[in-house]
Amino acid sequence: MPGCIMRLRRTLGSDVIETTPHGYRLTLVGDEIDAQRFERLVKRGRQLLTLGEPERAAHVIAEALDLWRGRALVDLEDWEPARIESSRLQELRLDAEETRIDACLQAGGHREVLAEAQARATEAPLRERRWALLALAQYQGGRQGEALRTLHRARTVLATELGLDPGPDLVALEQANLRQDPALVAEAVSVEAGARCPYLGLVPYDVADAEGFFGRDAEVGECLPRLAATGVLAVVGPSGCGKSSLVRAGIAATLRRDGRRVVIVSPGTRPLDALAALPANGDAVLVVDQCEQVVSSNDDAMGQSRFLAAVTEYAGQAPVVVAVRADRLSDLSVHAPFARMVERGVYLLGPMDCANLCAAIEGPAHQAGLLLEPGLVDVLARDVEGEPGALPLLSYALRQTWERHEGRTLTVAGYRETGGIREAVARSAEGLYEQLPLERRPLLRDVLLRLVAAGPDGEPIRGRVARGSLTADRDHDQLIEQLVAARLVISDDEVVELAHEALARAWPRLRGWLDDDVEGQRTLRHLSTEPRPGSGSHRERRLTSRTRRSTRRRRGPYGAACRAPSGGAPRRARAGAGRG
Ligand SMILES: Nc1ncnc2c1ncn2[C@@H]1O[C@H](COP(=O)(O)OP(=O)(O)O)[C@@H](O)[C@H]1O
Ligand SMILES: [Mg+2]
Repeated sequence: MPGCIMRLRRTLGSDVIETTPHGYRLTLVGDEIDAQRFERLVKRGRQLLTLGEPERAAHVIAEALDLWRGRALVDLEDWEPARIESSRLQELRLDAEETRIDACLQAGGHREVLAEAQARATEAPLRERRWALLALAQYQGGRQGEALRTLHRARTVLATELGLDPGPDLVALEQANLRQDPALVAEAVSVEAGARCPYLGLVPYDVADAEGFFGRDAEVGECLPRLAATGVLAVVGPSGCGKSSLVRAGIAATLRRDGRRVVIVSPGTRPLDALAALPANGDAVLVVDQCEQVVSSNDDAMGQSRFLAAVTEYAGQAPVVVAVRADRLSDLSVHAPFARMVERGVYLLGPMDCANLCAAIEGPAHQAGLLLEPGLVDVLARDVEGEPGALPLLSYALRQTWERHEGRTLTVAGYRETGGIREAVARSAEGLYEQLPLERRPLLRDVLLRLVAAGPDGEPIRGRVARGSLTADRDHDQLIEQLVAARLVISDDEVVELAHEALARAWPRLRGWLDDDVEGQRTLRHLSTEPRPGSGSHRERRLTSRTRRSTRRRRGPYGAACRAPSGGAPRRARAGAGRG
């Protein structure tokens, strides 16, 4: 025995066979066991098939089937657990054989698999899928009559052997065969799929976009009962967190689907004009989106008050939904009756968590017949998770990625080609800069250099700055609003900050300003490190010297690696440091 073990160890490697007090143990991991490798490859093949890559799927599944050498666990057939495992593997094998034929047919390879399809149907005549695949291969090869005969044979076999009629798939195939349905020969992939981009970019979702609105089910589910109970729903949150989309595509759309009349107004620059759109006699749910516009409108205080009073009065007769930016709530609360009304139904809308972000990425793709390459969702979610202004940037980057779709697949490479969220931010910032009149550009530089400064090692450090300290005059105020509208900056709780870390890192112009900013250190001292209760994502941006040290260690030359791969220890360290 020890001699055998020695020889085996020489062949397999010394650590593969462990010596234990009771004997020897073979220690193999994952892919070294054929059965596990087989299962992994089959799973991957199926994934590729779902992803619309039948050729790759057929290849991978063929590789899996090649691993078979006779029956599984043949030496242990007297042992019940082994028999069970063996039949499980055998079932997987039969299924894999069928999936490979299916994949080949989808890839247009009916000639190559016709003979095999014939053999497989004969081998296991009670497996209906085999008859279907054979019939399909015959049909695709231009042999409609033979295909029909195959289906009749299947019917006879099932009736004789089991006394059963064929299942719905075989029946549907027979009918499609008879009417010469073009779908039988057409590519499984519709050329139409992928022709429409399902992502909206920077635009909010409206009622008409409700079908493609994902990731906010829980919020809608919480808001509607609140509205029903109190008659008022005030969706409050920072700019870009998705308030308009929620009240329009989520709440208003659901109410309309339920037969309610819903009127949506936004105050715009002339709230008094918008008053005309208010429903006359309380027969509709009133939704006031962008309610914060009232305070920055061109109407005087009296006009603003009249608008708010009208909305408040309407809430006495019918349900009212308002969406309002958190940082403008205090301005609005000057109007006491309106404040009391809002108070009845405040709903604080936070950023989406990872699962909902995934839904917001996958849902629209699925609906539009698009496929997402494995890994893409993770990359996207990782690039935006925890960022306060993530949603619009994500939407924007997805639109860009869609422009590079391969067939109907959105790929990781396509996303990377766009430069990802970082490039999206940089482009939109440069666009804003170019649109600004020359004389206002220094203002932009001034504002941004107060939101971000070069740290001692040249790395940009973001901060949260009291809005009051930035908006000394109307020009500054307007500029901040422009930045907010472009989703580059968010304004919340009277505090302003960059919407995404990428702006400080990926926009060359800002990098240049930072390099030139000889007073960077001075500015740095003004950056607020005040804690901000209840927001994990914001906490992370309060970079204390401790976090600065830890980020510096992790960052690559461009800061790309600033985030721990899976929200692990470094990320927690950052949040923890921020809290301190
Ligand atoms: N559920 C969602 N899924 C995907 N993108 C969304 C979702 N909700 C909002 N967005 C996107 O986020 C951005 C901000 O949405 P918006 O409703 O305008 O926010 P807010 O009204 O809070 O400023 C827009 O680009 C919008 O398309
Ligand atoms: Mg909005």
